[in-house]
Amino acid sequence: MSRLIIIANRLPVTITEKKGKLKAVPSAGGLATGLKSLSKHFELIWVGWPGLASVKSGQRTAIKELLGQYDMHPVFIDSTKFNNYYGGFSNSTLWPLFHYFQQFADFNSRTWKDYREVNELFAAAVSKVARKNDIFWVQDYQLMLVPQLLRQRYPTSQIGYFHHIPFPSYELVRTLPWREDLLNGVLGADLIGFHTFDYVRHFTSAISRILGLDEHYLGRIRLGSRVVDVDSFPMGIDYEHFAKTLREPETRHEIKRYQREIKGEKIVLNIDRLDYTKALPQRLRAFDLLLSKYPGYRKQVSMLVILVPSRDTVGRYKQLKEEIDRIVGYINSKYGTIDWTPVHYYYRSIKFNRLVAWYKLAPVALITPYRDGMNLVSKEYLACKDDGKGVLILSEMAGSAKELLEAITVNPNNTEDIARALHRALQMDEQEQITRVRKMQKRLKRNTVAYWSAHFLERLAEAHTVSCQASQHLFDKKVEKRLIADYRKAQPRLIFLDYDGTLANFRNDPGKAEPTSSLHDTLHKLSKHSKNTVVLISGRDKDTLEKWFGDLPMNLVAEHGAWYKETGDKWHQAAAIDVSWKQEMLPIFQQFTDRTPGSFYEEKNYSLAWHYRQTDPGLAEMRKHEFMDKLSTAIYGRPLQIMEGNKVLEVKNVEINKGKAAQRWLDRQHWPFIMAIGDDHTDEDTFKAMPDSAYTLKVGFSDTVARYNIGSVEEVLALLGQLNGD
Ligand code: UDP
Ligand code: G6P
Repeated sequence: MSRLIIIANRLPVTITEKKGKLKAVPSAGGLATGLKSLSKHFELIWVGWPGLASVKSGQRTAIKELLGQYDMHPVFIDSTKFNNYYGGFSNSTLWPLFHYFQQFADFNSRTWKDYREVNELFAAAVSKVARKNDIFWVQDYQLMLVPQLLRQRYPTSQIGYFHHIPFPSYELVRTLPWREDLLNGVLGADLIGFHTFDYVRHFTSAISRILGLDEHYLGRIRLGSRVVDVDSFPMGIDYEHFAKTLREPETRHEIKRYQREIKGEKIVLNIDRLDYTKALPQRLRAFDLLLSKYPGYRKQVSMLVILVPSRDTVGRYKQLKEEIDRIVGYINSKYGTIDWTPVHYYYRSIKFNRLVAWYKLAPVALITPYRDGMNLVSKEYLACKDDGKGVLILSEMAGSAKELLEAITVNPNNTEDIARALHRALQMDEQEQITRVRKMQKRLKRNTVAYWSAHFLERLAEAHTVSCQASQHLFDKKVEKRLIADYRKAQPRLIFLDYDGTLANFRNDPGKAEPTSSLHDTLHKLSKHSKNTVVLISGRDKDTLEKWFGDLPMNLVAEHGAWYKETGDKWHQAAAIDVSWKQEMLPIFQQFTDRTPGSFYEEKNYSLAWHYRQTDPGLAEMRKHEFMDKLSTAIYGRPLQIMEGNKVLEVKNVEINKGKAAQRWLDRQHWPFIMAIGDDHTDEDTFKAMPDSAYTLKVGFSDTVARYNIGSVEEVLALLGQLNGD
């Protein structure tokens, strides 16, 4: 059985201390119960914070032993560091920002430092228990750096990350001073999961705009020799567990007891952690509005508010508690009578049977967070409606709203809308209630938390396999050694080198990418060797190549083959080529350049190129498609071709391509050693023209017909240095 290590800030049990005695009690939340189902297929091991705010050094062994009984391993963190990591960066920076409460987000380098250090403590704690072939699954925003920290330690292991809270728009993520570190942190995983597709979109947009990493294929991102998959996996609940608990005598007893106490009143149920994202004051105001607009509901309907204490060391949470106390007091004093309390309000967590009893008893659940990653309470409420009777009012901003389509959805900022929804819910006939609830239950029964976790882990294994396959083509030390040995023993040798993206990194201004003196020396040494024929094969114009490399004993190919120059000779045109089309196309290039900030076009002798490296990626993607559409019509029936390069679209004559250009040297004689290196779509033609025995190297990790992927320009330069014997 494989071992699965789950790394979460909160363990399924929390250690509490009463009169010096330690006890393990179940933690709130659905993750722990959900993941229990995995124990059929995996040996489950948990690593997490034990839950005690401060641990005395003498208690460590006892805590380890207590948790050890459940296969859990504690991460001990000193209390100041913990406060900065948990109350600070996790819950006063990431939590508010990711829930669109930008005004609450505190950007503090001290708490960031401790967040980083605590993430390292987690990774170190994992290392203590991890074995070869273990699978790692990191949970949530408190541990965004852990996937990368584990990747450094376990380069070939399966690592998953699940983000349980919303992932906001790029516009918010960009405000974070540590945005790159956090994004790179989660990218250590093979698979990154979110509850909804919106969060996936925001994440891929953020990594594209902030890290310049483009989605390469349906939620797949290339990262060096690895691929990272990003997808949505809406988390479900343990449906059967709720249905079973509902039938238990203790629950039935609770139901009867409360039925007697509420004396026929209709209960509007509110259950949440105390959190500003849950918008409880807004709901209370809506209830106030309902009672004032429809006085008939007084003494007939009351609100039950169960607020589970949460993060009470954080200032915002304390303030919220005071605000809620005030509003509840206001409503109760405004409408309350000696025999009727409009809002029943409890600030505590409740035991499971009682929770299930209230889910069953309440004809209406009012769940209207401003933002919520998923919201399990909405699903749990429905699971307890065994007779199908009940109405769920749900915020359209909750992740669960994407699945619970038959709920009454409201905009949580609109008090009137919520009051109207309450009225509608209280008036809804039973048949309609049952129809709606049954439809939602059907989905919830299928998409349980067991299904969610199993599905995530299956996809993790797949993503990991793809990553491993991608790295099989890696130009690693072994291949390098073989190439160098073959190079040394063979003669004559033929070498094709592309320039931009292969020998020099891309610059925003292509004119600035001129060769350094060290590159010049390398090429000089390589090309002057009597056994070597070196061909620099580029899309650049001939004047630039002449200026940069004209003095070297090297063959040059410009404009993808439209011009060539053999060593010591002058420039020749490949064939007589008609370029009259350029005049017709120029206005289109001009128009797209005008409409697309950050782009420019380049006129070469035999082609026109539109560059968009500095354009906003979203806009560039849209304009590129529009441009391609327009160009396809414009070139129809002509011997022209559109080529997509690295952030460039180019139109040129079909008879010109690098493969044809390379043929001129390939056909000349037998070459016992051939090597071709390039980075772009246009270099694929060169690779295709090469015999099977050639060493073809693609710089970067996008799809290619080349035999190997080499990581970077720097690695190419190092290889050439080795061939030169430097
Ligand atoms: N819950 C709990 N104790 C309580 C009341 C509720 O453990 O006294 C559980 C509830 O059953 C649900 C979870 O807390 O599973 C809350 O999850 P949700 O996704 O609704 O909100 P979150 O607290 O994660 O923001
Ligand atoms: C949300 C978060 C969880 C967190 C839970 C309770 O559901 O996504 O990661 O565990 O709230 O919050 P707490 O701070 O008490 O762990």
